[in-house]
Amino acid sequence: MIRLWPVSESFGAEVEGVDLRHSPSSESVAAIDAALLRYAVLVIPGQQLTPEQHRAVAAAFGPLEPMAPPTGRDKVGRGDEYLIDVSNLTAAGRPWADDSPSRGVQRANELWHTDSSFKETPARASFLYARSIPTAGGRTEFADLRAAYDALPQSRRDWLEGRIAHHSLATSRRRTGFGGFDGTQLAAMAPVPQLLVRRIPETGRRSLYLASHIGGIEGLSSDGAEEVLSELLTHATQRQFVYSHRWRKGDLVIWDNRCTMHRLRPYDDLHTHRDLQRATTLDRGNTCDLEGILRPAPAHRP
Ligand code: OGA
Ligand code: MN
Repeated sequence: MIRLWPVSESFGAEVEGVDLRHSPSSESVAAIDAALLRYAVLVIPGQQLTPEQHRAVAAAFGPLEPMAPPTGRDKVGRGDEYLIDVSNLTAAGRPWADDSPSRGVQRANELWHTDSSFKETPARASFLYARSIPTAGGRTEFADLRAAYDALPQSRRDWLEGRIAHHSLATSRRRTGFGGFDGTQLAAMAPVPQLLVRRIPETGRRSLYLASHIGGIEGLSSDGAEEVLSELLTHATQRQFVYSHRWRKGDLVIWDNRCTMHRLRPYDDLHTHRDLQRATTLDRGNTCDLEGILRPAPAHRP
């Protein structure tokens, strides 16, 4: 029997009474799915998962999102197509060097984002599992974009309705000072249009859909887009919308990428071990297509 311990009325809950080493029953999957719709972030503590079991848990909730292989050579062999390595460890199991490309890439996780919004079909739910954690720092913060949407003035909601933003991995990487992309790399990171406000079909609730991957907003200059993005990010990450997760070894945290953002907080990544892996399920399609909104011509550069 699953028991829920909500963090607040509508955002964040701890789940008690599941051992995910055994593939969850259809009743458990349905109960966790329903809890995820309501609370958007779920913490399932005390798990002991092999990579296979971790992947199987996520796969019980929907089709898995395939992941690109790690960028840095020091990471070869960690993670696989359906299990992304989000640790600070090299293939040899030691913390990365300060000039490791993987370190540069993962720095973008410290910016508020939602997973894979820069892909045609973005991520639906992420399943992040902690195999070891540092003694201090390295929390993950989550922001409730449904509550943030509800708290906007009506005039802002009207302005946002049906409006399209362009998401690119190149944008968020540039924001952390990771640049110098060549033409081929830029082509692979071409901006993808997504609605700034989306509807969660199961509940009918509207949510902001924001990320630091956004580099442009239809109808605005690039400075104008930057200003609106910064206003919305500041609004959505106010204390009352944020749950800050302090990891314990064995936590599996599941979040709904359609209506939340998250970010990693700093820790001593050159000296301590933070070993997390993530499996991810796919959304049903591009947000513009899901709402039947015509996409703009692909004219933007990231
Ligand atoms: C992720 C991510 C943050 C963290 O896995 O998608 O952003 O706290 N992780 O490791
Ligand atoms: Mn992420």
